[in-house]
Amino acid sequence: MSIRLLGIETSCDETAASVVDGGRAILSNVVASQADFHAQYGGVYPELASRMHVESITLVVEQALVAAHIGWDDLDAIAVTYGPGLPGSLLVGLNYAKGAALATGLPLVPVNHLEGHLYAHWLDTGAEGSASGNLRFPVLALIVSGGHTELVLVHDHGKYERLGGTLDDAAGEAFDKVARLLKLGYPGGPAVETAAEKGSPKAIDLPRAWLPGTYDFSFSGLKTAVLRVHQKYTGPVPQRFYADMAAAFQQSVVDVLVEKAGSAVKEFGPNALLLSGGVSANTALREAMRSAISVPVCTLPKVLCTDNAAMIAAAGFFRYQAGERAGWDLDIDPGLQLI
Ligand code: KG4
Ligand code: ZN
Repeated sequence: MSIRLLGIETSCDETAASVVDGGRAILSNVVASQADFHAQYGGVYPELASRMHVESITLVVEQALVAAHIGWDDLDAIAVTYGPGLPGSLLVGLNYAKGAALATGLPLVPVNHLEGHLYAHWLDTGAEGSASGNLRFPVLALIVSGGHTELVLVHDHGKYERLGGTLDDAAGEAFDKVARLLKLGYPGGPAVETAAEKGSPKAIDLPRAWLPGTYDFSFSGLKTAVLRVHQKYTGPVPQRFYADMAAAFQQSVVDVLVEKAGSAVKEFGPNALLLSGGVSANTALREAMRSAISVPVCTLPKVLCTDNAAMIAAAGFFRYQAGERAGWDLDIDPGLQLI
């Protein structure tokens, strides 16, 4: 019997809704990105993000139902992100979901955004390199996004052991800040990746924060090192510099992520490494992981790396199956952790 969940995601600057059947089959996946709008500010402008969610949410949810060829009566539950994220943005999705649950009588399932990034690997993607839910626990998960860098051992559904995380900037945040510094464009990750294609990673020597003996990360020193090298130019900066710096910076981030994930694979012997979050869309990272790691490295189509609601419906499905239901007192939790 099919169990269909409507997922709703508004934790940052994407208004997203999706219908997923059985936690695996994506019937629709609608994402309204505000990225072009926030580009003029070089980063997400929180107050405007929440206003734009208000403008888009009804239409995005309707589109998700239409694209899935179903109506509200065909749904079994509504899964919604309640944290972590921007407070104003989270409130829009959560309140919309509560209103819809009240009006339809559908149960409401609370979803942690980070768990959503992880459960994207249970979706049927049809893409090469994707697990599509064919996984045996334990698995190691690296969640690398604009807000988080988390290395987590997953022992079973919902059973997590956090090995480490960033002590300062998230990996995606470092990409965004460096892109802004070098005026490469927004969002920073894809802009740095494109610039790096024409550069040489060895042309500029940048530091790597190895933090030996831990599974923690630090990217703020790297960002400062980029700034220092850039400031050395008093006259015009040669065009070549931007490509080389993008390549050197990207390589530095990739080296650290690969080293830490590789050590964790050796120490804990997981059956696979799952790469999630916006930064996992990075081709250099995927390739470096695949050549260095001894277990299968599972990746996602880019649309499922960055924020989307299919992953929220997928995570919600497992919570729904476990009997989890939110009461009307469910509130946003902007600082929510995975464990
Ligand atoms: O998962 P996500 O959409 O949102 C958060 O939950 O934060 O991740 C967005 C982050 C941004 O920092 C963006 O610059 C980064 O992912 N990103 C990338 C790439 N595509 C997106 N970073 C490196 N390479 C990419 N190709
Ligand atoms: Zn995210």
